[in-house]
Amino acid sequence: MRTQVVIVGSGPAGLLLGQLLEKAGIATILLEQKSKDYVLGRIRAGVLEQGAVALLDEAGAGARLHREGLVHEGTEIAFSGVRHRIDFKALTGKTVTVYGQTEATRDLMDARAALGAPSIYEALDVSLHDLESERPRVRYAKDGKNFEIACDHVAGCDGFHGVSRRSIPEERLRTYERVYPFGWLGILVDKPPVSEELIYVNHARGFALCSMRSMTRSRYYLQCRLDEHVEDWPDDKFWEELARRLDPEAAKNLQTGASIEKSIAPLRSFVAEPMRYGNLFLAGDAAHIVPPTGAKGLNLAASDIAYLSAALIERYKKGSSAGLEAYPQKALARIWKAERFSWWMTQMLHRFPESSGFDQKMQGAELDYLFSSKAAQTALAENYVGLPY
Ligand code: FAD
Ligand code: PHB
Repeated sequence: MRTQVVIVGSGPAGLLLGQLLEKAGIATILLEQKSKDYVLGRIRAGVLEQGAVALLDEAGAGARLHREGLVHEGTEIAFSGVRHRIDFKALTGKTVTVYGQTEATRDLMDARAALGAPSIYEALDVSLHDLESERPRVRYAKDGKNFEIACDHVAGCDGFHGVSRRSIPEERLRTYERVYPFGWLGILVDKPPVSEELIYVNHARGFALCSMRSMTRSRYYLQCRLDEHVEDWPDDKFWEELARRLDPEAAKNLQTGASIEKSIAPLRSFVAEPMRYGNLFLAGDAAHIVPPTGAKGLNLAASDIAYLSAALIERYKKGSSAGLEAYPQKALARIWKAERFSWWMTQMLHRFPESSGFDQKMQGAELDYLFSSKAAQTALAENYVGLPY
């Protein structure tokens, strides 16, 4: 087999890149190790920046998002039992859209199928070869048979645990990492959300987040210990603990029910530099991870793809590699700012097991300043709605 770009991974990064390239007349083959249903069963992010929405539109996958997505003009932060609103629209002129990653992924899969572009699901043992040459090759196994694809470029969009980053020799990669001493226990429930906007909660018992997928489906998170398991958290215990962390009005509005999904995600900050090795280009979680507190993971994957798709299109349409040369530097400049914002939000809103009295006073002062200063709120809002591409 031969194609122009092999895309490894059928998450938002890989699917979005596939759409933008195919629409520009560039041939791609997409390889995914899991089944389509497995990919669609993963509950992950829920908040899209305007830039990500614009890219989904450009990819021809934005119609349902505009019908069903919820436009949010602000968010609330609760501390000491009192909620404070950050008005994104008034402070930045911008909004965010609440639309599940699962739904965006489904729309992108449908759009790819409509173009007739090849996707190979359950492609096992994907391996990358001759990445520093003009003719990289990608091998995989499917239904017990081995295959090889020759291509010009490989896009490594296969997430944090994927094969792409691991295919780069260690001495050519520099990694930066912070692992946080807690995780998020998430629950999905078919009940209306407690409030029209998201509520981020700093509470003495730990962080909590009230989010949603629609006006009839809610997503809630609790900060939990790293040694806890989903089985330790039957629904009743989850609802009881959530209600304790909410302000009285939110607790009163909380509608509980049987969970339709429950999972624990550890929190991590991670960046691998550069994002290129020969003709392999990394994008999304394959190159970087942010803790979810700033709702940046999926949005960063989208901005990487905005840069990478433009660079590949320039390469094929104008014969210039300048965009590809500049890709890591351009993408990383935005990534580090999102890393900083996500780290800052995490630091400000969680209870750290080792924190001293001084650390807690600093956290209180940070929040107090935020609630009293328009400048501080603008800085939060500007980052939350997304820095420009
Ligand atoms: P992914 O979505 O991870 O897609 C990578 C794809 O590559 C996967 O489908 C995977 O199966 C495939 N793959 C992996 N290895 C191989 C291989 N060897 N061969 C072929 N295919 C392979 N962000 C938020 O903003 N809010 C959240 O609440 C939130 N929750 C999250 C919860 C979890 C458990 C995780 C893991 C992430 C969460 N994120 C969240 C982050 C956000 O979902 C990611 O940033 C986003 O999915 C990145 O998209 P991606 O396409 O780069 O990677
Ligand atoms: C979500 O709805 O899953 C969500 C929303 C905001 C975040 C993280 C996750 O910061």
